[in-house]
Amino acid sequence: MNKARNERPLRIGVAGLGTVGQGVLRVLARNASLIQARCGRKLVVTHASIRDRNKRRDCDLNGVALLDSPLELVESEIDVVVELMGGLEPAERLIVSALKVGKSVVTANKALLAERGDIVIEAAERSGQALGFEAAVGGGIPVIQVLREGLAGNEVDSISGIINGTSNYILSRMTQEDLVFDEALAEAQKLGYAEANPSFDVEGTDAAHKLAILAAIAFGMPPSFTSILRESLDGVHLQDVHLAKELGYRIKPLGIAKRGNDGIELRVHPTLVPTHHPLAFVDGSLNAIRIHGDIVGQTVLIGAGAGAEPTASAVIADLIEIAKGRAPSLPLGQPINLLKTQPLLPLESAQSAFYLRLQLTDTPGALRALTTILAEQKISVEAILQKEPHEQKFATLALITSVTSESNYSRALNKILELPFTHGQTVRLRVEYFEDLK
Ligand code: HSE
Repeated sequence: MNKARNERPLRIGVAGLGTVGQGVLRVLARNASLIQARCGRKLVVTHASIRDRNKRRDCDLNGVALLDSPLELVESEIDVVVELMGGLEPAERLIVSALKVGKSVVTANKALLAERGDIVIEAAERSGQALGFEAAVGGGIPVIQVLREGLAGNEVDSISGIINGTSNYILSRMTQEDLVFDEALAEAQKLGYAEANPSFDVEGTDAAHKLAILAAIAFGMPPSFTSILRESLDGVHLQDVHLAKELGYRIKPLGIAKRGNDGIELRVHPTLVPTHHPLAFVDGSLNAIRIHGDIVGQTVLIGAGAGAEPTASAVIADLIEIAKGRAPSLPLGQPINLLKTQPLLPLESAQSAFYLRLQLTDTPGALRALTTILAEQKISVEAILQKEPHEQKFATLALITSVTSESNYSRALNKILELPFTHGQTVRLRVEYFEDLK
């Protein structure tokens, strides 16, 4: 690239002026001189597509040409399209068309990358243009760069991450303030963390999208969203948050990707994490991603995982790399046609310890009956807590089992539920120990 070209302002078109889009414009204006000093050229938003021109926006739109359709950006005099609309269409059409006509693209669209990543990444590789997606995972945490470049020499064996800020916010508020689930969710929505459809946060879809992207880079596999096990957060009750705390754990929303001898495990679920582990301290809307590689060992990244300006920070990092002509040519770190579909381990063979809460009749032998069933399945009880019977009838029991397979645990649980002593609602959650860091 010649010097004259490098000094020309980088012309940016933004598709979508929602929370993050406005954040990008605000930060580009506020930090304009330091950004210019770092890239040797100005970053200027010249175009933006907006759905509703009358809506008040918290950023300066002076000098920005406003377009009714995002697809108009393809024909506009810009160098980069920043796609912040989310959703599959028209985002996919916009990105693929923009790449085809020689524009670079920056996107925060985790759903698109996780579900149609093969199409957009192939379009980027074919065009030779950059496709930056740092903002798609972990908000402001530069995890894509860390995984793709910083840890490029490692065989990554596992990733465990708090990668949905809304879920973490909900569980943190339940833990710290005794809020019920709905109150905490309403707060997260008000603060702008939640997706347009908050069930994406609560049911693990958003985290699964992000996990699919991380696993693709870490394990050299095509993004594999549909096969990720997802368990909703709304199965966690305030009582479980308290019991877990007494047992020495915090309940955290984890996305887990593990490489085993027979394949890869991909799952998203609320998880008990020992209170001494770094992930247990990560509260509010913060995200944290623990990556374990064969050379580096454990690396934990913690930072703001949601919100306008942290996400803008990641978008702008990609824009700066493009402005400097340094954006990576392979979005997933290796050519898409060399990625290998990996066998995914069926859930039944996933190994984990379990938390179980149930009610037992207050009668001699009830506990023995329960532990006998566990012993028959070679499951040992690692920790146990029983609350005094209420109304002289039922005792609430919470226990943590030894590590066992999902299928073994389910067999035991089914037998426990058939006992004449068990009553009412049963809650089961998985426990992660992270053996290498105690
Ligand atoms: N709804 C997402 C979250 C926003 O709560 O983490 C960032 O992707």
